[in-house]
Amino acid sequence: MSKIEKTLSIIKPDAVERNLTEEIKKIFEEKNLKIKESKKIQISKDEAAEFYKVHQSKPFYNDLCKYLSSGPIVVMILEGENAILSNRKIMGATDPKKAENNTIRKLYGLSIDKNSVHGSDSLENANKEINFFFKN
Ligand code: CMP
Repeated sequence: MSKIEKTLSIIKPDAVERNLTEEIKKIFEEKNLKIKESKKIQISKDEAAEFYKVHQSKPFYNDLCKYLSSGPIVVMILEGENAILSNRKIMGATDPKKAENNTIRKLYGLSIDKNSVHGSDSLENANKEINFFFKN
């Protein structure tokens, strides 16, 4: 069954730096995900560590936190039918080398670290991640 959901998307430093923000936003909109909120920010390493807490036991955690805080990012709330899964399909596999053609990571990702975008992976995480960046 289809349902209208909200999910969190981040355009990561590698893509913001290469001026891909508008191209990436256009892809979401063309695939029926509405951009309800969007802001360009830079976060501290401590904030990145909090955001990526679920990965704290992974060997790549420290580099991941350093990377997300290394430059400006664009955080967005996307809304649409099955937005969480839809966004994940539009992004493609985490590793750009394994991503399907015409996905954002295949088109723009440079490596598994510099993979251009992040998207929430579940309803629970989408709610948490939206609150993380867009507290009222
Ligand atoms: P993202 O969807 O933002 O979630 C966690 C990030 O960790 C992931 O994208 C990758 O950019 C990064 N990462 C680095 N190494 C790995 C790895 N071996 N497996 C999964 N994610 C990794």
